Amino acid sequence: MELLHSGKVRDVYADGDDLILVASDRVSVYDVVLPTPIPDKGRLLTQLSLWWFEQLADVVPNHVVSGGDVPPEFAGRAVRCRRLAMLPVECIARGYLAGLGLREYRQDGSVSGVALPEGLVEGSKLPEPIFTPTTKAPVGEHDEFMTFADVVALVGGETAEDLRRITLEVYARGAELAARHGILVADTKLEFGRDAEGRLVLADEVLTSDSSRFWPADDWAPGRPQHAFDKQIVRDWATGTGWDRTPPGPEIPTDVVAATRARYIEVYERLTGRTW
Ligand SMILES: Nc1ncnc2c1ncn2[C@@H]1O[C@H](COP(=O)(O)OP(=O)(O)O)[C@@H](O)[C@H]1O
Ligand SMILES: [Mg+2]
Repeated sequence: MELLHSGKVRDVYADGDDLILVASDRVSVYDVVLPTPIPDKGRLLTQLSLWWFEQLADVVPNHVVSGGDVPPEFAGRAVRCRRLAMLPVECIARGYLAGLGLREYRQDGSVSGVALPEGLVEGSKLPEPIFTPTTKAPVGEHDEFMTFADVVALVGGETAEDLRRITLEVYARGAELAARHGILVADTKLEFGRDAEGRLVLADEVLTSDSSRFWPADDWAPGRPQHAFDKQIVRDWATGTGWDRTPPGPEIPTDVVAATRARYIEVYERLTGRTW
């Protein structure tokens, strides 16, 4: 198999007409990959993504060929998928204000050209979920917000409408299910491609904590940074070491690794209703 791409957390291989997406146990904090892995993180996020693809199969077709038919060394943490012609848009849905969306709102009161009411603060719930697409920037560059008109110009009106509708529907489904289990999905990022027949297909990973912001609902308080459901323990610990957030990051102590792993398991179990 040919290694096509090595991201911060995942590796992508080509196998004939298929891709094998492999999730590692690497964890990044403040955009820096720490030297210590979180055991099972790759398997947990892969299994969660596979579960979501199934749940969403009536909303949109997906790229999954198999979660089982992968090289043995990647068993459990890889997905064999159809290689698609990817659309050059990161399809983001937001139900709450955080991250780059918050920064954009503070600058001009809107995100991706969607006007928002005045007076929102960090962590505010939006009046309704919004579609805030960005470009897919080449490595080393930052994704930029696109307006809906920008998306239309790039992929055509019909595709743009489809992307917005499906993204908001996936978000609505995910957020509703997660909320029943005490997890707020603040935002989520989806990627789509076209298959050989020209159909729009959901690709990449879906509704994992590497592609979404998950917050514990009982701890949500607008007006301050929110806690990340699974990564907060390692984030708080890293901050407490006085680390300046530039590479290399610090080694994570055993007890922090164990507590973080337990949180990833908790998210998986709460969302899927399965036992890890
Ligand atoms: N079915 C697919 N066909 C083609 N490319 C895909 C498919 N699913 C995901 N991808 C691409 O695989 C890559 C996964 O890379 P990733 O690990 O997320 O690293 P990064 O996004 O940081 O480059 C992304 O470029 C994504 O668009
Ligand atoms: Mg990616």
